[in-house]
Amino acid sequence: MAVNSNQPRDSFGSKFGIIAAAAGSAVGLGNIWKFPYEAGVNGGGAFLFIYLIFVLLIGVSVMVAELTIGRAGQRNAIGSFKALAPGKPWFLVGMMGIAAAFMIFAFYGAVAGWTLEYIYQSIRNGFAGKSPEDLSQMFTEFTTNPARPIMWQTLFLIMTAGVVIAGVQKGIEKYSKILMPLLLLIILVLIVRSVTLSGAREGINFLFKPDFSKVTGHTIISALGQAFFSLSLGMGTIITYGSYIKKKENLLNTAVQVSLADTLIAVLAGLAIFPAVFAFGINPSEGPGLVFITLPNIFQQMPGGYVFSLMFFILLAIAALTSTISLLEVIVAYFSEELKMSRKRATLLASSGILFLGILCSLSQGPIAGFKIFGLNIWDFLDFTSTKIILPLGGLFIVIFVGFVLGRKRVTEELNNEGTLKARLLPVVMFLIRFVAPIAIALVFLNMIGILKIT
Ligand code: PFF
Repeated sequence: MAVNSNQPRDSFGSKFGIIAAAAGSAVGLGNIWKFPYEAGVNGGGAFLFIYLIFVLLIGVSVMVAELTIGRAGQRNAIGSFKALAPGKPWFLVGMMGIAAAFMIFAFYGAVAGWTLEYIYQSIRNGFAGKSPEDLSQMFTEFTTNPARPIMWQTLFLIMTAGVVIAGVQKGIEKYSKILMPLLLLIILVLIVRSVTLSGAREGINFLFKPDFSKVTGHTIISALGQAFFSLSLGMGTIITYGSYIKKKENLLNTAVQVSLADTLIAVLAGLAIFPAVFAFGINPSEGPGLVFITLPNIFQQMPGGYVFSLMFFILLAIAALTSTISLLEVIVAYFSEELKMSRKRATLLASSGILFLGILCSLSQGPIAGFKIFGLNIWDFLDFTSTKIILPLGGLFIVIFVGFVLGRKRVTEELNNEGTLKARLLPVVMFLIRFVAPIAIALVFLNMIGILKIT
């Protein structure tokens, strides 16, 4: 029950607001530093093709399942399960999601903080005249510093909390509607710069030229894993956002639009990055090395690099911000609705917990790197537990819940808006939710934790 049960629950005010907020959650660091490289080394266009099929068949189904749970339950990730399956242990799936939100925010927020340092360095022209070795050293010195990353990480958390505290419509929706178009605009400008450099064609080939010989079992598994993380699935984010979608909106269309927008941005990010990387004759890479070492090296050599560097790191910060907002909202919605706290108190409490874990993550890059849990430092442990275990497992339970527990009638009502929509794809989606998605996710999960070895 909501804190003020006499007041209507906060909700998204417009269709564009829904898409902006949900795509904001989905579009993040995963799209910018992981997807393009993954596509490039795994067969370019061939990978894109497989990824798109997964997004459309499995990503969309899981997203529909989450939206259904949220909108039917009208509560947070835990409360929705409690409302739909009272007295049953299904709410534990929501519980795992809340735990994952803390964990993911801890390390994701640390990287988000780095983007602020790199915005600052871009402003003060801090990459100028530095060799690749200098830039690499600069990155290591910064990330292993005991204080500086924590300062930025805290600032980033305060920005996130500031948006979340303002509410769903006046905070999350309002800022997503500004930030997402801005993100698209920045990417487009960066693409124009990147593809007009001489030698850019090779980067375009890297990204798009299909090479099916590079596609292995492993490629397929990692495409699905990437789709899951990239679409923010399996941990209640989309359940929570779904609960703010009005009854008149079309959930199937929403899921398709958000999934396609996320994929489009990932491809555009690749077009902004790899043509430039190849134009400067640099070997492509992924992750922190790509964005915090390789790209500064390119920016400081490229005409107009000062501006493009600033734009790129602002882009990264925006992408991360709309994602951390959704992570925080998962927890805040739970605290305020189930534990009956005010939104402000819930945000402060959740943020304090995140900050504590986040500081541990930051320190695990330097001072406490030697502290290991199951052989992993704190950062890697949280990353592994949340993205490799909780997300696929959560996704599996979610599709099973919607496919077999919630009941066909209830799901149909939610997806055809009590008969007012045609929802022609409904039988197909139901089939995907009940049979295709669970099997595919189970395979990914078993492979990720090493029980099944698919090569
Ligand atoms: N989808 C985000 C990305 O691709 O970077 C990461 C993410 C955000 C995962 C929010 C899960 C989540 F709840």
